[in-house]
Amino acid sequence: MTMLNIANIQELLRDCNSRFDLWIRLLDLHQVRSMAEIGVWKGDFSACILRNCRYIDRFYMIDPWATLPDWNKPFNVAPEMFDDIYQEMHEKTGFASDKRVILRGRSKEVLKYIPDESLDFAYIDGDHTLRGITIDLIKVLPKIKQGGIIGGDDFTTTPWQHDLRFEPTLVFPYSVYFAEAMDLPILALPHNQFLIKKDAAASFSFLDATGKYADTSLKGLAVGEGTRLKWNTCS
Ligand SMILES: C[S@@+](CC[C@H](N)C(=O)[O-])C[C@H]1O[C@@H](n2cnc3c(N)ncnc32)[C@H](O)[C@@H]1O
Repeated sequence: MTMLNIANIQELLRDCNSRFDLWIRLLDLHQVRSMAEIGVWKGDFSACILRNCRYIDRFYMIDPWATLPDWNKPFNVAPEMFDDIYQEMHEKTGFASDKRVILRGRSKEVLKYIPDESLDFAYIDGDHTLRGITIDLIKVLPKIKQGGIIGGDDFTTTPWQHDLRFEPTLVFPYSVYFAEAMDLPILALPHNQFLIKKDAAASFSFLDATGKYADTSLKGLAVGEGTRLKWNTCS
């Protein structure tokens, strides 16, 4: 993959108006054949990628599609809703049933069914809490081939992405700390996306193609006034 510099990335991302568009371009450029999505919901992202990325021949779809007792986020809906959501996902991606592998369970429980070093790409969009992103990054890295990539959603500059009653979102800055610990390059992309490249010969760098992520400290997180107060109160 030759795109890990700001000039190449900015050229690639020109006129890119959604995260769907962004990943279609990146996955085709990287000729991704085998991938996993952690957190699938109704299958909109999966269907879009399966329809538009020409090289993909295996797509692992990972989600419990179940109400979780210990996940305080708005997507944790009632059990009967998850039955409909699962059905919708199944129908929406049915056109690619020869490529999809549905792994119903939490990422930590089901990632073991994917062989090590077999994925070109994993997209993390499940549990965005500190606990969730920690588990997902640590558990998915061994599944990625050398030279492969990890991407993810909800790389937000505020932990209070949802109502203050919910657990904060800490994909940013945790993913940056993870990349630093593992000596890997990480990119901040538009539409709240991030990309980590697995490369044994690389070292840590943080390239920000958006200009939004200058401060990677928790204290520096750009939160609104009301939420800043809350954050400080909690600390
Ligand atoms: C934001 S939605 C995913 C949206 C989807 N990626 C898309 O772009 O259309 C989050 C999903 O993560 C799932 N989820 C929550 N905890 C999870 C875990 N530990 N492992 C896998 N999926 C999880 C939820 O069930 C929910 O369907």
